[in-house]
Amino acid sequence: MAGVMAVLWAGALILVVTSVKVVADNIGVNWGTMTSHPLHPRIVVQLLKDNGFEKVKLFDSDPWMVGYLAGTGIEVMLGIPNDQLEFLSQDYGNAKDWVKENCTSHLRKGGVNIKYVAVGNEPFLTSYKGRFLKTTFPALKNIQKALNEAGLGNKIKAVVPQNADVYESKSDKPSDGVFRRDVKAVMAQIVRFLKENGAPFVVNIYPFISLTMNSKFPSDFAFFDGGHPIQDDNIQYNNVFEANFDTLIYALKDLGTPNLTILVGEVGWPTDGHKKANKNSAKKFYDGLFKVLASKKGTPLRPGEMDVYLFGLFDEDTKSIEPGNFERHWGIFDFDGKPKFTMDISGKGGDKHLVAAKGVKYLPKQWCVLESYASNQDLIGQQTGWACARSDCTALQDGASCSNLDPDRTVSYAFNSYYQMNNQDEDACDFEGLATVVSKDPSTMSCRFNTQIKVDGATRLSFAQGAVAAISSSLTLFFLL
Ligand SMILES: *[C@@H]1O[C@H](CO)[C@@H](O)[C@H](O)[C@H]1NC(C)=O
Ligand SMILES: *[C@@H]1O[C@H](CO)[C@@H](O)[C@H](O)[C@H]1NC(C)=O
Repeated sequence: MAGVMAVLWAGALILVVTSVKVVADNIGVNWGTMTSHPLHPRIVVQLLKDNGFEKVKLFDSDPWMVGYLAGTGIEVMLGIPNDQLEFLSQDYGNAKDWVKENCTSHLRKGGVNIKYVAVGNEPFLTSYKGRFLKTTFPALKNIQKALNEAGLGNKIKAVVPQNADVYESKSDKPSDGVFRRDVKAVMAQIVRFLKENGAPFVVNIYPFISLTMNSKFPSDFAFFDGGHPIQDDNIQYNNVFEANFDTLIYALKDLGTPNLTILVGEVGWPTDGHKKANKNSAKKFYDGLFKVLASKKGTPLRPGEMDVYLFGLFDEDTKSIEPGNFERHWGIFDFDGKPKFTMDISGKGGDKHLVAAKGVKYLPKQWCVLESYASNQDLIGQQTGWACARSDCTALQDGASCSNLDPDRTVSYAFNSYYQMNNQDEDACDFEGLATVVSKDPSTMSCRFNTQIKVDGATRLSFAQGAVAAISSSLTLFFLL
């Protein structure tokens, strides 16, 4: 009897353990930090654990931040920003030092489970105009060589995440897929090198961008529920994600490496800053994606399980908005680690919320708004533009969540954004006497006026660079009343 009980107990335990695991092990997530108020890495790592994410992809390798992943078992893709490619390509010694400080030092017992080093991020984007064309491959080679020499080559692979714009199909049919002419020669070298090293090809695929860049693009083809299929010989494609993925396979075939393993380094849908970016369409996209991933059917050319990293964890209010105002709204969580909409990563279509970040501390519940009786009203336009250039007004743009505010509240939104960005500093709510601090939340049904989170000194120091980049990039935003 005791034996039977023990067996039953063991069975029950296994049941409990498997039902806790909510994220399949082929789904990871991108953790970007281009934000004015980053969550502490301790909180983020707990969030990953609470939600069962076992893989994370980073855009940098800040040893302080990476250290918080030690002992978690979470598989990590470290990142090397594009601006370090030249340095790492110039001299093998630089790559050796990089590996020593950013890999080897984390690998003690119970250390960080590093699996990949991403050398650059989308370095061949057309908008970079070839700036990283010469340095990317040498940097990749140097990093992999340094990994090999440190005895890590079998465990850690160097990769280069590419945007899907490195390949194209003139006919829209996957079978006409080829790499872009200006990158084809270097891509041929890279894919051969990846193959020799047993490293995967990492590609970022964005159906949202396909949809918004081309006004004729059929909306339902961006999602996963059929409609407007593409017929490619005897294969039918029902969504752009799979069609895009297989276009890459044809492009790889063209270079003689049809069997290279492919990881989807980024996939997701933004929730604001564009009329097609909202929580409903994001939920629809993710529901479809998770169903496809759970079915393990893969794509017509590559059946089976697919490895993807969702993009991304949080909204990042200091990202460049050059690609569009949606760029700061890719998070499956809000800036403060609250889930934005229900999603069932297991693909079963349940209406569950992800587990929110724990231990987040907020600034006081107060907001900076336009003083309706202020005298120098003629300065309103100029002051609003000034505030927006130094904060985040992407939610005010056409089709975004705050685009329908009345004129006074629109100004308040801009003032408050600047005030919160500056940690509710008293001086940050003046605007030539036009503004005042209130304790009544000015949010509306669709438009949220944030109060920012408290960031401790260590986090601020470590992420200070992101904030600087923000100011310069948001200067391109002109706000005219
Ligand atoms: C390790 O990575 C960090 C973050 O990117 C970088 O600043 C640092 O220079 C790297 N270390 C070395 C020795 O290259
Ligand atoms: C790719 O894989 C298929 C199926 O395993 C095999 O028949 C083919 O020879 C491989 N091609 C190359 C170029 O390795």
